[in-house]
Amino acid sequence: MSLHLGRTIFGDPVNKGNLLSREEANALFHQWVLNPKLRIHMQQVAHLMKCWAAEKELLDEDGQWKWEMAGLLHDADWDQWPELHCSKIIEELEQRKIDPDIIHAIASHGHLHFGVEPVNAMDKMLYAFDELSGLIHAYSLMRPGGYDGMDLKGVKKRLKEKSFAANVSREDIMDACTRADIPLDELINFIIPRQALVIV
Ligand SMILES: [Fe+2]
Repeated sequence: MSLHLGRTIFGDPVNKGNLLSREEANALFHQWVLNPKLRIHMQQVAHLMKCWAAEKELLDEDGQWKWEMAGLLHDADWDQWPELHCSKIIEELEQRKIDPDIIHAIASHGHLHFGVEPVNAMDKMLYAFDELSGLIHAYSLMRPGGYDGMDLKGVKKRLKEKSFAANVSREDIMDACTRADIPLDELINFIIPRQALVIV
């Protein structure tokens, strides 16, 4: 099954700045994503994107929501239409005339699958958070205290264990850090305390 999108231009530049309202995005999220585990993953990535936009990119509320929205919807079609991932959500957002930056970020969150390179900061961070966030969450589920007391060392140990969360691509994680120019340790330390605050 090829998920290659066959194009690298998404949305229309005239739609720059057009975002879904939070209610609209949540409605789409709840309608399309029925799997509770996938919902948690998408909400966690959304929160990390928002935190990064606020703390590192110093964006205003609209800018933060733009990043958060990309995280919240990046896997929206994976649950019900895996063979159409992520062309279905891309087409939906194009029809709704949404900011092309969001659509490009979604299209490039798995460049080996979709054939679209992460270009700007939002693309790169969505790609960087996606897999690592999943591994850290899987780790929290096997710890008696969840996120309590979780540290860098423990996460790195799990990363080295190929059998742990085996579906998480270690290669993608390292590639994403290189592309975003962020040391792996820094990314892990950013994720742990913030992801711990997402109520699931
Ligand atoms: Fe994802």
